[in-house]
Formats: sequence, structure tokens, C-alpha cells
Amino acid sequence: MAAYHLDTFEAYLDARRQAAENPEAFWASIAAHFAWKRPWDNVLSADFERAHNRWFEGGILNITENCLDRHLEIRGNKLALIWEPNDPRERFVRLTFRELHTQVCQVANVLKKHGIQKGDRVALYMPMIPELAVSVLACARIGAVHSVVFAGFSAQSLADRIQDAGARCVLTSDGLYRGNKEIPVKRVVDEALEQCPTVEKVLVVERTLWAVSMQPGRDFWMHEEVETVERDCAAAPMEAEDPLFILYTSGSTGKPKGVVHSGGGYMVYAGYTFRNVFQCRESEVFWCTADIGWITGHSYLLYGPLLNGTTTLMFEGVPTHPDPGRFWQVCDKHGVNVFYTAPTAIRALMAAGEDHVLAYSLDSLRLLGTVGEPINEEAWHWYHIHVGKERCPIVDTWWQTETGGIMISGLGALSPMKPAHAGLPLPGVEAVLLDKEGREIEATEAEGLLCIKRPWPGMIRTTYGDHDRCVQTYFSAFKGYYFTGDGAKRASDGLFRIIGRVDDVINVSGHRFGTAEIENAINGCKAVAESAVVGYPHPIKGQGIHAYVVLRESAGASDEPQLEIVHAEIVEAVVESIGRIAKPDRIQMAPGLPKTRSGKIMRRILRKIAEGETESFGDTSTLLDPDVVQALVQGYRSLSEH
Ligand code: WTA
Repeated sequence: MAAYHLDTFEAYLDARRQAAENPEAFWASIAAHFAWKRPWDNVLSADFERAHNRWFEGGILNITENCLDRHLEIRGNKLALIWEPNDPRERFVRLTFRELHTQVCQVANVLKKHGIQKGDRVALYMPMIPELAVSVLACARIGAVHSVVFAGFSAQSLADRIQDAGARCVLTSDGLYRGNKEIPVKRVVDEALEQCPTVEKVLVVERTLWAVSMQPGRDFWMHEEVETVERDCAAAPMEAEDPLFILYTSGSTGKPKGVVHSGGGYMVYAGYTFRNVFQCRESEVFWCTADIGWITGHSYLLYGPLLNGTTTLMFEGVPTHPDPGRFWQVCDKHGVNVFYTAPTAIRALMAAGEDHVLAYSLDSLRLLGTVGEPINEEAWHWYHIHVGKERCPIVDTWWQTETGGIMISGLGALSPMKPAHAGLPLPGVEAVLLDKEGREIEATEAEGLLCIKRPWPGMIRTTYGDHDRCVQTYFSAFKGYYFTGDGAKRASDGLFRIIGRVDDVINVSGHRFGTAEIENAINGCKAVAESAVVGYPHPIKGQGIHAYVVLRESAGASDEPQLEIVHAEIVEAVVESIGRIAKPDRIQMAPGLPKTRSGKIMRRILRKIAEGETESFGDTSTLLDPDVVQALVQGYRSLSEH
């Protein structure tokens, strides 16, 4: 029987060996630590080629019973959720497991009252307030499939996601505070819903008390509705493979895809990885700074901690508001023991200077974590020295929306730790490096394409409404492997270092965007003939967005004031189509793009120019018009001198 909790490095090695020798027995014994209404018949049926991987079939469960009900007897009065508002002067909220349970049941009953049933899709577009956590769990309680959309995406993005999922209901709020910004969330929803005929009901949570328009028969106030329902709601019995949620994420082609996770496997994987990566003790407070609109918020703000009975902290604001000491002030205020954030936040705070962090004791911290993008060594050391006081280990956790939970990472203080290295794969994760031909690289010290060789319980099940896309994107590049889209190095000691995406995905402040998605938005401008978007190294964001834009002849490219208008139009087009988070950092007007004779854009060259390279572009003989390269270099120079 494999241990659920790994408490020594030897226990980790042992679990890794057990999982390699008999993965089904290993995962069955991990899954046995959860509450099932009915045990599974079959641990795993796997088929990588058709992307048909099913875990714990025949098993019946409800993830909220595991997050809430299971804890009521022993820790009903323990804090489940601490909520810290955007404004430090506003009152914080604390909910015990019992209180959270009641609130989840009430909202679940409200959903039911409004006709939402098992299998229906519910979109959530909300600020980081306790009601968001409650609403996500309420969906899971009744078996509705939640699709959380980060409340920074535009009305158009929200509409696309609602339509793709065919959501029947939207949960939102009147408005939102984030740093010094105020966003009229309900108005964004109203705009989106003009294009969404499937939505029958909108439930609105009060946050800012702003006047909003309420459409009779469609829109209801949540606080009024909860008054009308019972305080208890039985957890719907769910098949292990019933979908739990959809989360949209960008890929290298086309529109964002809905990554689907199912309840049984996701629960086991999120629970097990949380327990072992963060090693939280019963009395500890865990803080993941990610928004619930991203996978990190799903797995490690909400489900992971609650599955393990850990107190989780939820923060409404941003690291720099009202000043760059805010994170550290919150750590001291609530006695945070484990702090999990993104490298981009660390770099932004590092740039603001040490004084802000030195003003706080940070005595409660035991462990630090990072996620979302590679962390550079300078930021790693700053985090280690100034935040962790050289006393707290750092876990650098590599994973993806598609993996459901952490795949490569240190385990608390147990594992070897090396700056900028994610470390070793978790038990049951068979991470390999492939060369370009798809051959496994045997040598330990190597660089290659990061792939996973074996199914794991938290893996993606499908892309919503388009299974073929799931097969094509993840399981077709190399037969028999899940392809991550990342390149990685393995050091002589076996520790992995993630280099970054090898496809046309850019990672801006830990948020994924497909270059095609941004190009589509730009190409929608009247003045634009075509465009190409690439990422370039950015000191705070990790990667910045560099857009090369070719204007139509009629656009008046030589006329300065006219150019400024076009520039503003391009920015506006991206903000409208995707959201402010995808705004290009640089827009370079170009006479043309470097294309091969077959019309393929040579992005390799565009990436080099955006990195400031002026000479060595490799073989450019296949280019239709090699002169365009020098013109682009010139254009880049005048851009950077601007
Ligand atoms: C990148 C976030 C380096 C990687 C959980 C991956 C990382 C993408 C790390 C997934 C890390 C995530 N070190 N790179 N520790 N963690 N990445 O889906 O490129 O938003 O493919 O999931 O982020 O981003 P996603």
C-alpha cells in the first residue's frame, strides 16, 4: 500500500519505484484515501493514441464531499477560507469548514432552483471574493460543469467561452476592485450575453454596490436568492469520469480551447500533489496568489488545500497595491506558512526594492513556491534571501492547465533544491526528453522536448466539443507520448530545468497566449494587411508581446499622426478581442514579413530581431525576399530608440 503522505526523500524514491512498477496499484492505493460513494471497478483504461484515458471507472464520488463534508466531524470549526480584500482597511472574512459547507449548499440550492442540473455548464465571471470559491464548489456539488473565466478577459472573450461551452447560467458580480482599478463586471457580462442565446439565468453577487441593470426574468441577486432556499444540499453522485470543469487556455493555433477535467482523477491528483509538494501541517495557513480564473487557482487555491483540510487564503488584490509591501503585510497579518506565487510577481516586487519586504517579519513562513513560468536565478535568489530569509526552501513547480496538477517539483524540504530547476518528477509521472525525431534521449544530462510517457490521474480528458483537437494537440506529435509544448534540460543529477515553450505560445506574466489569437485580433483592423506576433525576453513579465504589422497601402503609413491612430486602433482591437492582459508591448510597422516561397512566415527570424539580434539569422536563402530582414532590423532599431 503506497503512502499518501511522503515524509522523507526515501519515501519519495520508494513511491516513485512503486508507481513505475505497478502504476495502477499505486494510484488505487492513493485514491483509497478519499471518500467514494462507490469504489471503482477499473483503475485505468489508457489509450494515448485516441486520447481516451479513463481513471477509476465505475467509481462514484462528489469532490465537494471530499473538500467539505469529510472534514466536518474532526475540523468543522477549523478555518477553511481566509479572505483578504483589495483594500487593507476593509474587513477580512473567515469561514470555517462548517460555514463554507453551508454557503456552498445554499448556492447549490439556488442553482437548482433556477433549473441548473447535473451536466449543465455554468460560466463564472467574478472577482476574487469568497462567493467565487463558494460558487465553484456549488457547481461541483450538483454536478454542473464550471467554467471560470478570469474577470480580466474582454466581453468578446467571455462570449466566445460561453458559446463554446453552451453555458446555461452565468454567475457574476456588480463590479470588481483590483488594485486601483474598478471594473464594471456586470456590464461586461451584459455585453457578452448579447451574443449568447444559451444563457437563461444570471446570478449577481453584490460586491461594489454599484447600480447595475437587471433584466427581469434573467438576472437575480444572489443574496436575495440564498434567503429563499434550504441550508443543506445533498452532494450529487458523480461518475469518476463525469466532467468536473472546463478551463479555457490558449494553444498555438486558433481560438482558446476548453480543457476538460473529470472529477475522480482530478481530485486524486490535486489532493495528492498538494499534500506532498507543500507538506502542510494541520495548523498551517496556505496562500496561493493565483486567481481562480487560472488552473493554479483551481488546483491549489481551492481544491488541493480543501481536499486536505488545509486553511487556504484568498486575496482579492494585486501585489503592488496600495504599495509593493502588500503581499508581505498579508503574510504577517494572517500568519501565512506556505506562500505560492508566480515569478513575474517576484520580479515586479524585486524591482520595487528590498525596503518593502524588510518592513515585515515574515516569521510565519516555512516554505515558498513558484509556478507558471521559468524563474531566473536572480529572482530565485532574491525570493530565497529576502522573503525566505534563507530559511525557507523553494519549490519550483512545473505543470500546465492540461496536467491538472503539479508534475515536476521539489517536495517541501525533502528534495534537492537548485535555483531555476523544477527538480524531479512526482511519483507516477514519467517525464522524458525527446529529440526532434521523437526518439527518447537516454543520457541523463540532455536537452529536448518534454513529454510524458504514461497516463496520470489529473490529465486532460478532452478539449470541449472537439476531441480531435485534443488528439492533435497533445497526442499526435509523438506517438505514445503526451507532448507538453515545453523544452527542458536535464542535469547530471536528474533535475529538470524548464526552458520554455517550443510552440507558438507566449507566456506573459505567467498567462498563456497563442500568437495566432493576437494576430487574428490585429488583422481585424481595417488598416492592417497582415501581422506576426512573437515573444521576447521581458525583465518583469518573462515574455513581452512584439507585434510586426504590415499596413495596407491605403493606410497612410508615412503619415505620423495617421500612424498614431492606427497604433491606437491595433491596441484597442487586442483589448476588445482578448483583454487588457494581452496588450502588445511593442508594435513595429513593417514593410513586409520574412516568408518562404511557400508563404510560411519565418518566425525564428522575427524572434531574433525582437531579441535585438542584428546579424546572425542563419540560413535565409529560402526567403522570398531576403532584403526584408534588414528592413525589419532597421525598423526594430528606430522602435527601440523611440
Ligand atoms: C510554463 C500553469 C517553467 C510552461 C500551471 C507550461 C513553467 C505553461 C512552470 C503552462 C515552471 C509552468 N517553470 N515554466 N515551474 N510552470 N510553466 O497552463 O511553459 O497556465 O507549459 O499552467 O507554463 O501554463 P498554464
